[in-house]
Amino acid sequence: MDMKRRIGILTGGGDCPGLNAVIRAVAKKLMLELGAEVVGIEDSFDGFLDGRWRRLSYDDVSGILTRGGTILGTTNKGDPFAYRDRGDVSAKIVAGVRKLKLEGLVVLGGDGTMRISHRMTQAGVRVVGVPKTIDNDVVGTEVTFGFDSAVRVATEALDALHSTADSHRRIMLVEVMGRTVGWIALHAGVAGGADVILIPEIPHRMEALAESVRRRHARRRFTIAAVAEGAGQAMQIGKQLESATGIEARVAVLGHLQRGGSPTPTDRILASRLGAAAAGLVARRRWNRMVAVRGGRTTDIALSQVAGKVKRVPPGHELIGVARAVGTSFGD
Ligand code: F6P
Repeated sequence: MDMKRRIGILTGGGDCPGLNAVIRAVAKKLMLELGAEVVGIEDSFDGFLDGRWRRLSYDDVSGILTRGGTILGTTNKGDPFAYRDRGDVSAKIVAGVRKLKLEGLVVLGGDGTMRISHRMTQAGVRVVGVPKTIDNDVVGTEVTFGFDSAVRVATEALDALHSTADSHRRIMLVEVMGRTVGWIALHAGVAGGADVILIPEIPHRMEALAESVRRRHARRRFTIAAVAEGAGQAMQIGKQLESATGIEARVAVLGHLQRGGSPTPTDRILASRLGAAAAGLVARRRWNRMVAVRGGRTTDIALSQVAGKVKRVPPGHELIGVARAVGTSFGD
């Protein structure tokens, strides 16, 4: 009888730097410590629907620590419970797991993928979740890998735009990612010394925003604003500010630049820690949990406690006070 344990691994949702570092840590630990077989499923759960999976060798997961994206591919349009125009295809996923004789799955994903993973556990599939997203909005963990890399890109953009904003006496708005949360805007804004930070958690009023810009321009030549996409379109806010203040405004939308490229050392370390922790849960057969960081330590939490929730910036977050202390306006 074949006693080898066989574990599946997949990446779901939008990609981010650090996914490959997790795949490497999970697969190597499972191979080295358990002698397990690791099967990579392509493009999130989609690979189960059309038979796209492959046994991962040790060589497949070597040399990928620093590589951005995911060697397995991913999609954010593959919810098995509401699959494009086909409806609920979750039974096909369950059948695929059985056919491949997978004991369980390690699923790397954000809030949407964790919700799907929880529903898959209810359909009888064992899952260990690993939280990823540049947005940093997964509950149950203080931080997700990918976030630090995105903050670095956004901060470098804010740094670079200072000199051109100064030269032209302009308002320079930088739109960063974050559909529903302002973590990237808040962190990059503080790191890059933004004069204005707009986040969805603190609704802004155009008159208050315009007034803070006027006050700044009475003393300084330029204004730099970090705008989370969830706080409104920077292009539109820029136009409104221009007509309210009479000061020229320009906009840079960073978009997917924030998801590209090699993970920062901080993200490589975090991804390696979470990957090793996920393999540890599999080794101990502690299924249906998500690995997490709390109090700076690696720990885990039931998927049921994570599913369907979003971690927003709390009103009393320390960095909001820090930004206000140096004169940054939230336009409120
Ligand atoms: O959730 C990650 C994220 O990058 C968000 O910040 C952004 O709003 C969204 O994904 C973009 O999605 P897509 O890659 O489908 O354009």
